[in-house]
Amino acid sequence: MRKKFIAGNWKMNTTALSGELLAAAIVKGLGGDTSVQVAVCPPFPYLFRVGQAIQGSPVALGAQNCYHEKSGAFTGEVSPDMLVDAGCQYVILGHSERRHKLRESDGFINKKTHAALAAGLRVILCVGETLEEREGNKTNQVLDEQVTAGLIGITSQTVRNMVIAYEPVWAIGTGRSATAAQAQAAHAFIRNRVAALCGPPAAAELVILYGGSATPQVAEELVRQPDIDGGLIGGASLKPDDFLSIVAMAKRAMALP
Ligand code: 13P
Repeated sequence: MRKKFIAGNWKMNTTALSGELLAAAIVKGLGGDTSVQVAVCPPFPYLFRVGQAIQGSPVALGAQNCYHEKSGAFTGEVSPDMLVDAGCQYVILGHSERRHKLRESDGFINKKTHAALAAGLRVILCVGETLEEREGNKTNQVLDEQVTAGLIGITSQTVRNMVIAYEPVWAIGTGRSATAAQAQAAHAFIRNRVAALCGPPAAAELVILYGGSATPQVAEELVRQPDIDGGLIGGASLKPDDFLSIVAMAKRAMALP
């Protein structure tokens, strides 16, 4: 059985102090429970401080992006090795805010995925369609394109260090989550694509997260779907009570027959 995974994508939020307090509240609320994998992804400048706040706890540290080069003259960029050095286990790549606002391409995201995996990071690869694409019945086509391009050069072995996050762009930050049925259908489609690309055993093990206005109000049903293995939580990850209650929902879902 796949372990549920709840990750907080803090995006460009918090201060050093509020980030530390948020992380400490999550650690306290979890109380050492490891039944659900939990990670927090603060902004780069706070990685060390948040890393200290979660030290010795089951909470893992993740970053929100990286560059594909190891080091050198790349002003403003951060390498995968630096993230490992800062204590990260995870890195989010291909988030729709970077795809759409910063024009990141599938090819660029794939390069960064390879570099991050080579450095020993686990990659949370985000995919998802826009509202226009969904309304034009192009959801599966877009997911197919993004998953296929995202996994170029990824094998049945290396995909084991990846997580895919299905994040419908129209649901992100809008308060309009996908329904459990919509999300389940997209997750099942993604898993089938990964089975075709990397083999059925790797696809069966792959953790696929849902992201997009996932709040305690809607998460319970989402995390109970057979192909939804947890959530990549934005806004609700900034509120410890909300985040912890989503973790508790994931735990309950794992206890279901
Ligand atoms: P919201 O939960 O704020 O909609 O953000 C989702 C997201 O983009 C997580 O990566």
